[in-house]
Amino acid sequence: MIIIKAKDYQDMSRKAANMISAQIIMKPDCVLGLATGSTPLGIYSQLTDWFRKGDLDFAKVSTVNLDEYRGLPRESKQSYYYFMHENFFRHINIRKDSTIIPNGRDMNISSACEAHEQAIQSLGGVDLQLLGLGYNGHIGFNEPGEAFEKETHCVDLTPCTIDANARFFASREDVPTQAYTMGIKSIMQAGKILIAVSGEDKAEITARAFWGPVTPKVPASILQMHPDVTLIADEAALSLSPVTVKQ
Ligand code: GLP
Repeated sequence: MIIIKAKDYQDMSRKAANMISAQIIMKPDCVLGLATGSTPLGIYSQLTDWFRKGDLDFAKVSTVNLDEYRGLPRESKQSYYYFMHENFFRHINIRKDSTIIPNGRDMNISSACEAHEQAIQSLGGVDLQLLGLGYNGHIGFNEPGEAFEKETHCVDLTPCTIDANARFFASREDVPTQAYTMGIKSIMQAGKILIAVSGEDKAEITARAFWGPVTPKVPASILQMHPDVTLIADEAALSLSPVTVKQ
């Protein structure tokens, strides 16, 4: 695992965007695995900036998103479909039919999950997967449990995740209780993984995920087993981690 220490959120965003940008330059028709949440917002905004300056071209890029709330229509402002279009896709020259997000409107769990897995396979897999880190160690919506879930599946969100995501909804009661998410196997099959973490409130889970035992109780800990993982975290997020890292 490569660990890159950033000064702050902005520095983390730039460094992560640089790595994604390098991937697009090296392979213009690459498949990017994308994440939602507050963490990647700065990355998407930096990539948009470089696109506007003419330094990046998304015309041949495809994207696959990790997860989506089950039951939310695309038009809902809290859907991850809406999030991705508002915060990234509508600002760049990516083809709309090259952006794949689990279909939250499909209430049939097996058809929604199979369709997402098939879409990933038909693209030939993910070249670079961007991840954020949940407070309880979740990646995508893979919540802590007794075993690592493999492919795209439906999850019951934990109270911790519902609390954390309530900030995006009018009230806690409005947060969906289920979501579709790529599984650990689908995530681990990516050629490269980039996990971005920021803030003091993520310091404890960062230390547990990357320096603690590999356990499904901390889903992100499985990333220690991937051959090409880069953790880009700011000083605050690394403040409880027991290593000297690259500046
Ligand atoms: C959400 C998403 C995850 C994301 C995580 C952290 O629930 N499903 O993909 O990584 O929470 O979000 P944030 O970056 O806002 O802390």
